[in-house]
Amino acid sequence: MQALRRFALVAVTASPLLLLGLDSTADERATSRFQHSGRMPAETTTDAVTQADFFTEAPAGFDNRTNGFLRQGAPYDTIDEDNVVPDRSFNDNRFIFEEVEVIADGLGPTYNAQSCAECHQNVVTGGASQIAEHRTGRVDASGGFFESLGGSLIHSRATNPAIVERVAFEDDVRTFRISTNTLGNGFIECVANETLLGIRDAQPAEIRGTAVMVPVLEGGNAMRVGRFGWKNQHASLESFSADAYLNEMGITSPLFPDENTSAGRDVSFGTGFDTVADPEDEGEDVKAFANFMRSTKAPSRGRITRDVQAGEALFNQVGCNGCHVSSLRTARPGQFINGGAFRIPLALGNKIIHPYSDFLSHDIGTGDGIPVLPGPEYAATRNLIRTAPLWALRTRNRLMHDGLSFTKQEAIQRHINQGAGARDRYNALTDQQRNLVLAFLDSL
Ligand code: HEC
Ligand code: HEC
Repeated sequence: MQALRRFALVAVTASPLLLLGLDSTADERATSRFQHSGRMPAETTTDAVTQADFFTEAPAGFDNRTNGFLRQGAPYDTIDEDNVVPDRSFNDNRFIFEEVEVIADGLGPTYNAQSCAECHQNVVTGGASQIAEHRTGRVDASGGFFESLGGSLIHSRATNPAIVERVAFEDDVRTFRISTNTLGNGFIECVANETLLGIRDAQPAEIRGTAVMVPVLEGGNAMRVGRFGWKNQHASLESFSADAYLNEMGITSPLFPDENTSAGRDVSFGTGFDTVADPEDEGEDVKAFANFMRSTKAPSRGRITRDVQAGEALFNQVGCNGCHVSSLRTARPGQFINGGAFRIPLALGNKIIHPYSDFLSHDIGTGDGIPVLPGPEYAATRNLIRTAPLWALRTRNRLMHDGLSFTKQEAIQRHINQGAGARDRYNALTDQQRNLVLAFLDSL
């Protein structure tokens, strides 16, 4: 516990210079190209907006409809005049998110799938899916973590049989990571750092989370509280999109300009394996992905019956809500976030959302052993996992980061360490009370 708390402190104040000079993986090279000040931008200061805060519920639904940030279809102008976004509609950006890429577009040479929607589609474009990727590495005699050659992500496909990545026998730190939901993530992006740090500071010591500070690549590497991905490895949707475009599909862009290797072997443009010069996307697609996700509605709830309400009361009573925080508020419209790269639009600012997560990292005994990035300052993240947001839970049937819990009951029993108290109190409930908690989970 002490170590975790110390890390939380270090993580917040860590200089981004510490990110430099480590083994060069594709991810990291991209990260370390930016060497700017790591001052955390204040995200609660007022600027243009002066009226008293007035919060409204974020629109929710699984319906392929915009949340109001971008117009649904043509004409190609945005509703929010204040915010400069490329002149594309929600539907246009969605098509780009759904578009199947081929070799001539830059797909591969090593990759996992051909479109974002291939892994983010259930029950509508942008949702989660059963597709899992695998990550591996090894621990040396001194206890240091080493990624597999070419990075911890093992691509499952390639454009040529000679370069399909396979796991080295010695790389015995192994995990699956299942595809997560992205619907409603524009609201998460607009939650101020201070809101998440405030939740952390109010958590009792035995469940206190860790805020993992990560650089926003399009924002001059400004450090921000990570909130996306199982490891909280990104704080902005544009950075995550550029990362995914390269690491899931093999398409380079200005924020991730270097092609992945095949287990360390150069397969980039000029080697004969790749026919498209880098960057394969000028950054337009990356922006389209981010703006699509920013325009999606939050996942909606199922029927809220009296059992569901009673179940939520028990969920709170046993302390599940210590980490699975029901409600968050986004920051004010007009404010700049992401190191100045994004201005919160009216559609996303001052909203109330119900993600059932604190977007902090915890050790509940399920850590997969793989840090956010290699290097000593991230070593403490090896066994931390983000509190899984429980919104959209009813759309998924493979649970936890590895997708290896087939039922909610098994997922709950895997909560030990920081999760043990809540689990034990849940186990001490009567059968009937536990069923109410499960009914509540089924409504999310
Ligand atoms: C092969 C499947 C696959 C493809 C293709 C894919 N993703 Fe993902 N996505 C995942 C997985 C797996 C995760 C969780 C990874 C992790 O946290 O380590 C994820 C997580 C995310 C997240 C974080 C959401 C959250 O809060 O947890 C975003 C954003 C995202 N993907 C966007 C994209 C975009 C944009 C594309 C297309 C460029 C894309 N993904 C393509 C599998 C995929
Ligand atoms: C100390 C923080 C913490 C507490 C308390 C906590 N959880 Fe979790 N929960 C997590 C984390 C972290 C994960 C993700 C773990 C992983 O994927 O390895 C998670 C995952 C889950 C999942 C799987 C969700 C998914 O998307 O796969 C369910 C269901 C869940 N928790 C329910 C509960 C319930 C019910 C309680 C109370 C009995 C509870 N949690 C208490 C942190 C917590």
